[in-house]
Amino acid sequence: MSGNRLIIALSKGRMQDDALELFARAGIVVNESELNSRKLIIDSSDRRHSFVLVKPSDVPTYVEYGVADAGICGRDVLLESRANVHEPLDLKFGHCKIAVAGKREVVGEDYNLLATVRVATKYPRITTDYFHAKGVPIEVVTLSGSVELSPLLGLSDRIVDLVETGRTLKENGLEVIDVITESTARLIVNRASLHLKRAAVSDLISSITAALN
Ligand code: PRP
Repeated sequence: MSGNRLIIALSKGRMQDDALELFARAGIVVNESELNSRKLIIDSSDRRHSFVLVKPSDVPTYVEYGVADAGICGRDVLLESRANVHEPLDLKFGHCKIAVAGKREVVGEDYNLLATVRVATKYPRITTDYFHAKGVPIEVVTLSGSVELSPLLGLSDRIVDLVETGRTLKENGLEVIDVITESTARLIVNRASLHLKRAAVSDLISSITAALN
C-alpha cells in the first residue's frame, strides 16, 4: 500500500459489473483489455487505483487486514463476517434479501421448540443469531453454494439464503418463510487507510458519492 495508490477489493460475479460501472461514473476507468484478461490485479487507466478481484465473502477479510484499502461487498457478507471496517456508503445496487425458506408443504413458523431444526446456509452466524433470538434450537449445515438443493434432498428442514429475484426458490418448489434482513452493496474502507491515505480515501468517497447522485 505505498504512496497514494488505493487498492480496492471487488467481488467477482454478480456485483462486479455494477461496481465497475459505478467506478467509471466516478472517473475511475479500467481498460477493456485488462478486464478481459485473467489477471486478478488490474489497474485503472490513471494507475491511481488497483482492483483485486476476489470471492465476495473474502472482500471484508482483504479490507480488514489492510491488503486492500477499500472494497465493495454486499451487506449480507459484511454482517456474516463481522469485519471491523469503516462502512461509509450504501451503493444502492445489489438489492437482495436474506431469508428463511423451506418446501411449500412445510412452510410456516410453527417450530417445535423441543425438536432441533436443521438449517442449511452460507450464513452460519446470521442463521444462528436469528434462530437463537426466537429460542428455536437448530443445527446449522454450512454449505458454500446451491443451498436450495438441501431441503429437496432431505439434508435440511429449512435454508437461510440470499433471495434476489426469487426465481431459484420458485423453480425448486421453495418459499420464503421470513425475511431476516435486506442487503445492498456497500463501500468499505480499512480503518488504518482512513488515516494513512486520508486524501486519496476522501477523494474516492466524494467521487463515488457524486456518481451515486
Ligand atoms: C445466490 C443465492 C441463490 C440465488 C438467488 O446464489 O444463494 O441461490 O443466488 O437468486 P434469485 O433469487 O435471483 O434466484 P449464487 O447465484 O450466488 O450461486 P451459489 O448458489 O453458487 O451461491
